[in-house]
Amino acid sequence: MATSIEPSSPAAAVAGQRLPSIIQGGMGAAVSSWRLASQVAQAGQLGVVSGTGLDTVLARRLQDGDQGGHMRRALAAFPVPEVAARAIDKFFLPEGREADEPYVLLPRLAVEQTRHSQEMAVLGNFVEVWLAKEGHHGTVGVNYLEKIQMATPAAAYGALLAGVDYVLMGAGLPREIPHLLDQLSQHTAVKFPVDVAGAEPGSYSVSLDPHDLLGVELPPLKRPRFLAIVSAHILAEYLARDEAIRPDGFVVEGPQAGGHNAPPRGKLVVDESGEPQFGPRDYADLAKVAAIGLPFWLAGTYGTPEGLVAAQATGAAGVQVGTLFALSSDAGFEPEIRKNLVSRVADGTLEVSTNLRASPTGFPFKVAPLDGSMSDPAEVEARPRLCDLGFLAVPFVHSNGTVGHRCPSEPQTPFARKGGKADDTEGRLCLCNSLMANVGLGQTRSTGYVEKPLITLGADLDGPKRLAALHPDGWTAREALDWLLTGSEA
Ligand SMILES: Cc1cc2nc3c(=O)[nH]c(=O)nc-3n(C[C@H](O)[C@H](O)[C@H](O)COP(=O)(O)O)c2cc1C
Repeated sequence: MATSIEPSSPAAAVAGQRLPSIIQGGMGAAVSSWRLASQVAQAGQLGVVSGTGLDTVLARRLQDGDQGGHMRRALAAFPVPEVAARAIDKFFLPEGREADEPYVLLPRLAVEQTRHSQEMAVLGNFVEVWLAKEGHHGTVGVNYLEKIQMATPAAAYGALLAGVDYVLMGAGLPREIPHLLDQLSQHTAVKFPVDVAGAEPGSYSVSLDPHDLLGVELPPLKRPRFLAIVSAHILAEYLARDEAIRPDGFVVEGPQAGGHNAPPRGKLVVDESGEPQFGPRDYADLAKVAAIGLPFWLAGTYGTPEGLVAAQATGAAGVQVGTLFALSSDAGFEPEIRKNLVSRVADGTLEVSTNLRASPTGFPFKVAPLDGSMSDPAEVEARPRLCDLGFLAVPFVHSNGTVGHRCPSEPQTPFARKGGKADDTEGRLCLCNSLMANVGLGQTRSTGYVEKPLITLGADLDGPKRLAALHPDGWTAREALDWLLTGSEA
C-alpha cells in the first residue's frame, strides 16, 4: 500500500509542505466519522471528520449507551474534567434508551449562547477529532459549513483543543476563518460575525471566551491549516488576494460532488424532471487556480486512479474524494443503507440527482433514491413537519428588535409568521433530522414516528462501481485508498 504523503506535484513542492495527495472529504453528519478519518490518516492521507452537529451526535451516542465506550474514553482526555463530567451526567444512559424513548434535545443554535450549549459544541468536536487522531501520528482535518455560522467558534475551538491539523470549510465564502483560527489557537476571546436577516452586516456576532468557558490554565494549541472549499476560481482569487482572509489552500469542488453544490451560474435551466443543468461556467478555470500559487485539490468526479493523475497534471496537489469513502464500511452510514447502496452501485441501477428544493439552505443538494427514505414523496407526506434541531435555521430580526430563527423546512405558518416567504417552504426537507437518521441517530417521536434517512452521494459512481467489482461485499477505507493510489484492480 502507498502510504507516503511526500510532495506529490509541483504545487505541493512549491509550497514546500508535506501535503496529502488524497483528502477524504468531510461528509455530514457523521458519515465521515472518526473511524473513517482515523483509517485514512493512518494510511498517510488526510482524514476529515464532519464537524456538523457534533454536539447532538455526542449527546445521542451517550444516550444510546456509548457502545464501545469511545465517547467516554475521549471525554476522559478533555483538559477540563468537570466540563466532560457534566455531559456524561446529563446524557449518558448505561443501558441506552428505551426503544420508543425520544432523545433529549440540546438547546438550538443561537446568537446568544448558553454555557451548556457552548460546552457541548466544544466537547462534541473535541471527541470526534481526538478519536480520529488517537494512537497514530497521521493528519486529521475537520469540515464545517460556512452557512452554519453560529456554530463555528465553539465547534472549531473544540477541534483545536484536540489538536486538529486542518480546518476545511465550504458552502459559503469563509472570509473570517483564518482570523478565527489565529485567535482561538491563542485562547483569545472572539466575536465572530453572524449574518442576521434584516440587520446591517456586522451588527451581530457570536461571542466565545475560552478562559471564561473553561476557566483554567489552558494547554498551548497548534494553529491548524485552513483550506477553503470553493466552486469558482474567482472566489479563490478573491480570498487569496488579501492576507487577512487568505487560506492555506483550496479544495475546488465541481457540480457533480456529493452533498451541497454551488447553484448553476447564469440563467437557470432545468430538465423535464426539474434537475438544474450545469454547464462549462460551473467549472473553475484550473489554470487560474494554479496561478494563485497556493496548494489545491480537486473534488467531484475525481475519485478514481485516473482522476488523481488528471488532477495532478493540472498542478493540483491531489484530490478530495467523498462518495468512494462514504460507501466504505468505515463510514457512518447505517450498515443496511450502505449495503443497499453498494449493491445498486454494483448493478448500475443507482442514479443520483440534483434537487433544487430539498435543502433549506437553498443550495442544490444531491439526492440518492432509497426506499423508505425522504427521497420518496410518500415518506415526505407521512412525516409530521417540524424543525427541532435547527442547524440550518437562519437568524432574523423580529419587528420588536429581538433575534429569532426560521428554517424553510419548518411548517409554513410559523415560517411565514417569522417573515419568511411561504413559497420558500415548498419541497424543503428536514436535512437535520434525516442526516441524523442516516447514521443511526434518528429521532423517535412521542407519537411513535421515527425520522427517516435522506441519502446524498456524488453523481459520478464510476469509482464505486469499479471498486464494487473488486470487492463485491463492500470495501474498507484502506481498500479504497489502495485502489486510488496504485490504480491496481488486480
Ligand atoms: C454523503 C456525503 C456528504 C457530504 N457532506 C459534506 C459536508 O458536510 N461538507 C462538505 O464540505 N462537503 C460534503 N460532501 C462533499 C465531499 O466532501 C466531497 O467534496 C465530494 O463528495 C467529492 O466528490 P465525489 O463524491 O465525486 O468524490 C459530502 C459528500 C457526500 C458523498
